[in-house]
Amino acid sequence: MKPAYTKLNHDHLQFFTALLGESNVLVNEEEKQKYGRDYTEDFLFVPEVVLLPQNASEISEILKYCNNQRVAVTPRGAGTGLSGGALPLYGGVVLSTEKLNHILAIDEDNFQVTTEPGVINDELRRAVEAKGLFYPPDPASKGSCFIGGNLAENSGGPKAVKYGVTKDYVLNLEVVLPNGEIMWTGANVLKNSTGYNLTQLLVGSEGTLGVITKVVLKLLGKPKTDLLMMASFGDLVSPCVAVSRLLNAGITPSALEYMERNAVEWSMRYADVSLELENDMQSILLIELDGNDGEILMRECEQIYEILEANKCLNVLLADTAAEKERLWKVRRICGEAVHAHSVYKEEDTVVPRFQLPVLLQKVKEIGAKYGFESVCYGHAGDGNLHVNILKGELDDEAWNHTVKHGIREIFETCHQLGGTISGEHGIGLVQKEYLDVVFNSAQIQLMKGIKQVFDPHGILNPGKIFPD
Ligand code: LAC
Ligand code: ZN
Repeated sequence: MKPAYTKLNHDHLQFFTALLGESNVLVNEEEKQKYGRDYTEDFLFVPEVVLLPQNASEISEILKYCNNQRVAVTPRGAGTGLSGGALPLYGGVVLSTEKLNHILAIDEDNFQVTTEPGVINDELRRAVEAKGLFYPPDPASKGSCFIGGNLAENSGGPKAVKYGVTKDYVLNLEVVLPNGEIMWTGANVLKNSTGYNLTQLLVGSEGTLGVITKVVLKLLGKPKTDLLMMASFGDLVSPCVAVSRLLNAGITPSALEYMERNAVEWSMRYADVSLELENDMQSILLIELDGNDGEILMRECEQIYEILEANKCLNVLLADTAAEKERLWKVRRICGEAVHAHSVYKEEDTVVPRFQLPVLLQKVKEIGAKYGFESVCYGHAGDGNLHVNILKGELDDEAWNHTVKHGIREIFETCHQLGGTISGEHGIGLVQKEYLDVVFNSAQIQLMKGIKQVFDPHGILNPGKIFPD
């Protein structure tokens, strides 16, 4: 049943304008449409208004008011999400964090940064790197995605295999609750065993519990050097086997990225990068090593060559300049956009224990053949995290909206049977909520709904996300 939210009228808009100023209240159709999309399929949900607050106290006033008036509020970062988490399903307010875009303090003594949520991931990385520090989580969209969105979805990225994901760097959050209360969730310390972990509860909560307004992140020392290789293979699954062998040999690359041939070719074309590909190449693995000692990395590199050779590798290219590394990374990072330029697609963010990846890959292709859809796969082989892009191509609406979903369910059931789950780093949002029952029973879902109820009793914050209808 669709919840009843209050439609905005002139009085509501007047309240927002008095609070934020006219330039921070967007009512123009064209502008509203921009905030009605993210990177998920071809969805469009136009909000009734877009608000651009500049600080926690304005957000507090907005939420308090909307909570009392029962107005739906959808928080939004840069809109690069792939599960529809920022789409305003019920219209209402889109609350953009784009004006909370300041890095507030870099604490070089304690290796911490305090930032607002609307800072772009790469800008934060560059700012801390200028001080010799390192913020590892680097989603493919790092050039445009916001730190706030990374927190909302618990984003990963290529470096997760060695350095972990967003949650591993979050120490403390300032959040505004739906009732307008502003609070910190933890403390700026590396160890914290004090009560329930509200900080981690907020991470990955997809904007359904509160709006994050300040973030304290842990940093590392910046590794001094890195190496990048591209290994090609004549079949789909050998790279995934090689990944397990590498890690079992005691080598911990800073990235182990997989791409099947179509993903490589489409990305090359889209990014205008040319790479020489063997005719019989079916998939590639990008292997990055980082550390402080180049000689040690070269020795590991030789060890990796041997392991690759023993695992059906056709060829290995060592990127020897910064420009060459950049080219290879561009091809990997642009995959999603390149596939999108090819066809509308459904992104399935599958994840299994990494040794099961060859089984998952084979099953994905079999399920595609059974239900009549084509998929392009790429992702984070070291984490067992495979992005399965299902192409709309020539499929009719019936197939796209119904048949394909049976196939997706089967893919997710396979993930579950293999010990995995249905999202590794993109969240459940709008598009995966109908599959939540594949991995959680009703007792688990009720427990989560209970948490939602405590934070947001009127359900005004990012309604229609995570939980099945
Ligand atoms: C990537 C995004 C889709 O890894 O997570 O390219
Ligand atoms: Zn990814």
